[in-house]
Amino acid sequence: NFMNELSGFHELEQQIKGTLNLDHVIITPGNSDEHDWVKQELGKAAVDYLQSIIQSNQTIAVTGGTSMAVVAEMMSPASYAQNSMFVPARGGLGERVENQANTICAEMAKKANGEYRLLYVPDPLSEESYQSIIEEPSVKEILQIIRQADVVMHGIGDAVTMAKRRKASKDVLHKIETGKAVSEAFGYYFNNVGEVIHKVRTVGMQLEDLSKINCVIAVAGGKSKAKAIYSYFKQGKSNVLITDEAAANELIKGF
Ligand code: BG6
Repeated sequence: NFMNELSGFHELEQQIKGTLNLDHVIITPGNSDEHDWVKQELGKAAVDYLQSIIQSNQTIAVTGGTSMAVVAEMMSPASYAQNSMFVPARGGLGERVENQANTICAEMAKKANGEYRLLYVPDPLSEESYQSIIEEPSVKEILQIIRQADVVMHGIGDAVTMAKRRKASKDVLHKIETGKAVSEAFGYYFNNVGEVIHKVRTVGMQLEDLSKINCVIAVAGGKSKAKAIYSYFKQGKSNVLITDEAAANELIKGF
């Protein structure tokens, strides 16, 4: 398509799309690890893509993270789609407030002139509180909305970076390190063949729910994330990848 031709990364996009078996790949210039503007371009590309596929009255579930925070920053009203509803994909994962899915989802809704619903759950959850929280009528209602999302947009992180950022306990960190987890998405930690090494217990979308959703968009860039992106897609049910040039160039080395 026109956008791909313009980006100059058409071949690289096709190569990644083919190898990872995706429906769509978008590559933006530069390396997100090095410059903020690169991450902003990534965010802008994610907004443009979302606006090209979204229809009126659809629900978009989003995760937290700095990449998604930039998507929120770049968000604007879609010209064709009205009444968008933004929801967090999962409950608390231990992020600081500006990186939480709730915060990001409220900002996206505001900038897109849409609606939002939030999930108020503490983290980490014990098995006991998890079971009782999912029975709360208000939580049940929003969980329904989340599971029926039309579009999911999420980040992918490096496993150890994410565990440390979320101040995971010594035990969890040990599990992640000895299990050789490479990537993290939605609070799931994956090794290099895509097996789940650890999962943060929280409500909301679970990995198996993703296969029922038509459009799952991963937004992740930076040379340092190439291994994580590759590991996530061994298992990941996402069908669109929006990444940057540095991650893409590093990614294909592993093919
Ligand atoms: C988290 C998401 O909030 O952000 C994860 O739940 C993702 O799915 C992570 O791995 C990525 O964070 P960042 O800051 O690298 O975009």
